[in-house]
Amino acid sequence: MMHDESILVLDFGSQYTQLIARRIRELGVYSEIKPFNIPIDDIRLISPAGIILSGGPSSVYQSEAPLIDKEIMELDVPILGICYGLQLITHLFGGQVIGADHREYGHADLYIETTQDPLLNAIDSPTHVWMSHGDKIARKPPDFRTLAHTRNSPHGIIRHQSKPIFGLQFHPEVAHTKQGHIILKNFLYEVCGCKGSWTPHSFVEHSISSLREKIGNEKVICALSGGVDSSVAAVLLSRAIGRQLIPIFIDNGLLRTNEAEEVQSMAAKHFSTNFRFVDARERFLRRLQHVTDPEKKRKIIGEEFIRVFEDAASREGEVRYLVQGTLYPDVIESISTKGPSAVIKSHHNVGGLPQTMKLTLIEPLRELFKDEVRRVGSELGLPDHIIGRHPFPGPGLAVRTLGDITEQKLTILRQSDVIFIEELRAADLYNDVWQAFTVLLPVQTVGVMGDERTYENAIALRAVTSQDAMTADWAQLPYDLLKKVSNRIINEVKGVNRVVYDISSKPPSTIEWE
Ligand code: XMP
Repeated sequence: MMHDESILVLDFGSQYTQLIARRIRELGVYSEIKPFNIPIDDIRLISPAGIILSGGPSSVYQSEAPLIDKEIMELDVPILGICYGLQLITHLFGGQVIGADHREYGHADLYIETTQDPLLNAIDSPTHVWMSHGDKIARKPPDFRTLAHTRNSPHGIIRHQSKPIFGLQFHPEVAHTKQGHIILKNFLYEVCGCKGSWTPHSFVEHSISSLREKIGNEKVICALSGGVDSSVAAVLLSRAIGRQLIPIFIDNGLLRTNEAEEVQSMAAKHFSTNFRFVDARERFLRRLQHVTDPEKKRKIIGEEFIRVFEDAASREGEVRYLVQGTLYPDVIESISTKGPSAVIKSHHNVGGLPQTMKLTLIEPLRELFKDEVRRVGSELGLPDHIIGRHPFPGPGLAVRTLGDITEQKLTILRQSDVIFIEELRAADLYNDVWQAFTVLLPVQTVGVMGDERTYENAIALRAVTSQDAMTADWAQLPYDLLKKVSNRIINEVKGVNRVVYDISSKPPSTIEWE
């Protein structure tokens, strides 16, 4: 998708590259990340308003250091180098970078040496910045001036004498750099002349017109899961092409209480009438009978999903496209500084579909971060309870019912899950955790109810905090809440006489139990 104005972030492998892109978008300008060795003709095609060179773990003087063509510096586009980016600029323009005696890490005071530069509009002197580097500039390039310094870095900020090419030794994108957002804002608006056209509204308008153009009169199918990403993708498509979109929802019998009904009512409200609801509960549960191995469960569910989906799609006549709610982190997760040859992960739950069905993939959200998808969802009028939903795994309750799966166990799981989520919402903590759910353990334990001895099931509560599900910590929920949830589950859910709280983090555990 072409954007009116965009900032190109060239990735040299810093752990903060995504954060840079995100900050820029928060400031109202579209930005995208590309590997550092993107061909210069592709950069010309993107025609960015500015280019940011990210940090990275390498040293410019090493033989395998990722370098760029100096021609990029002659594109007449403003450039901002951050940390490694600064060192690269220094190197390319004939300065010298050396390993510092002391690695500089953490806070530093930055002293501004000029009040004239647009990059430093409204920046205090000194101002707190955050450093993380082992190399430093020993000799600044001849055509450059120093705009600011810290005690250990005499060239904290440099700029070209006549061109808008800047280098920062510190990281403006991290929250620890107090006025970092102002420096980035100055770069965008004062140096690059951006207007700030990146909003959920502009994204929606833009997407709708380009989707219409691309799809023409063809039919498009999508698998709707009820989760945020697939819902937002489907509603966007529905706005663009109306009845040409055929959203297919498969009830696999492994959903939570009311989930199928909720998706149906969302569909009624937000889609044209082509919504297809497939009740495949029996099919899935029959194939899962007596299966206890987690990987086997996942495999069966994946295969069965493809069959049911193909079945449903084959009834729709000639279909050309498949929509998926792939997000930006899925796309760039494995773009590494090794460059374009590195595999780009294509993450989806309906793996295999495009190959077997010869459908062309449409991924309207592939440029967005999760929080941006949520804002786009709001813009499209989706209700908060869909937009703010916790993630739910494709294999559903199957991976939360340890051991074999039966209707009776699924009922216990559904009833306990509803109670946990209800109480979490009542305590106003639902939005503070990444995910919360219950797990039915494959053990029975002894209890006493009234005067009777019981021998029944144990439920584990799982609640975690996380940024991206790659790592997670168990949520420190208040004891009062845990007490209430435990009491309610034991009293209200038949077949449960014990509740435990999972206090494991990821790694070494995972979020789901299977
Ligand atoms: P784990 O258990 O690996 O889960 O720590 C990380 C995140 O991924 C979700 N998850 C899945 N999501 N299909 C999905 O769409 C799956 O097969 C699947 N397995 C786990 C999990 O709920 C958590 O958010």
